[in-house]
Amino acid sequence: MTNRTQETPIAVSHTDPDLADEARGLAAQMGLPLDNPAANTPTLLLTLTPDRLELRQTGKGAEGPLFVDFIGGAIEYRRKQTTSRKEAIARAVGLKGGARPVVLDITAGLGRDSFILASLGCTVQMVERSSVVAALLADALERAKEEPGLAEIMSRLSLIVGDSLNILSDWQGEHPEVICIDPMYPHRSKSALVKKEMRLIRLLVGGDEDSDQLLAAALAIATRRVVVKRPRLAPSLLGPEPNFTISGKNSRFDVYLV
Ligand SMILES: C[S@@+](CC[C@H](N)C(=O)[O-])C[C@H]1O[C@@H](n2cnc3c(N)ncnc32)[C@H](O)[C@@H]1O
Repeated sequence: MTNRTQETPIAVSHTDPDLADEARGLAAQMGLPLDNPAANTPTLLLTLTPDRLELRQTGKGAEGPLFVDFIGGAIEYRRKQTTSRKEAIARAVGLKGGARPVVLDITAGLGRDSFILASLGCTVQMVERSSVVAALLADALERAKEEPGLAEIMSRLSLIVGDSLNILSDWQGEHPEVICIDPMYPHRSKSALVKKEMRLIRLLVGGDEDSDQLLAAALAIATRRVVVKRPRLAPSLLGPEPNFTISGKNSRFDVYLV
């Protein structure tokens, strides 16, 4: 399951001889080749290290490794400092008082928005269609589950690998109260405003050119609201006008009440 509009060559590699079998298994599972140092190294490597799974860019001017981490670094600081009032996404989702809506995040990406919502008490199911992005995310979820201080938050977070359009059109069971959408913005300039991580993800998934369809599909399933994250000055997704907008630091949240 992948949606690579630009086919960037990618292979699986490992940093430690002990990880060779695991790397072979991962490559087979994902339908990717194993890196062959004797041949041309591809642009991207999905690399198993003793600590985690990383996405590495190769060649001149390569971006540093990309991995997902819910335990330390910036996300730990944000989790510890934040409140539902401070987080624009929490206000957009309708998190206030005792309300902790059940959220479906249909463009999971690196899972940061979902993790923040789960740490504020929401139950969040994520969907990601790029098998490589989903592998990085699944690896971080596994590591975070082992962290005693995060166990409760992680019990509220889950991941489905698949295309949200298919999953929504075939939705079974209880409907989520809120659906969040944060597609890749389809501009291709190497702007300094586009974070390094998103530049690497763009190499994998392209520009999510089909994101307008996600809004209509989400509006048919959510029971309370659909929240779309956009760059601050970007147009809204095609479809109905948002009922209101909440501005965050670098982005804005268009809120559609159902
Ligand atoms: C901008 S990133 C999301 C970042 C995320 N909000 C975060 O906090 O890390 C967009 C992601 O949505 C995924 N995506 C786009 N369309 C999708 C679809 N129809 N189904 C599932 N995933 C999709 C892309 O593969 C990409 O990984």
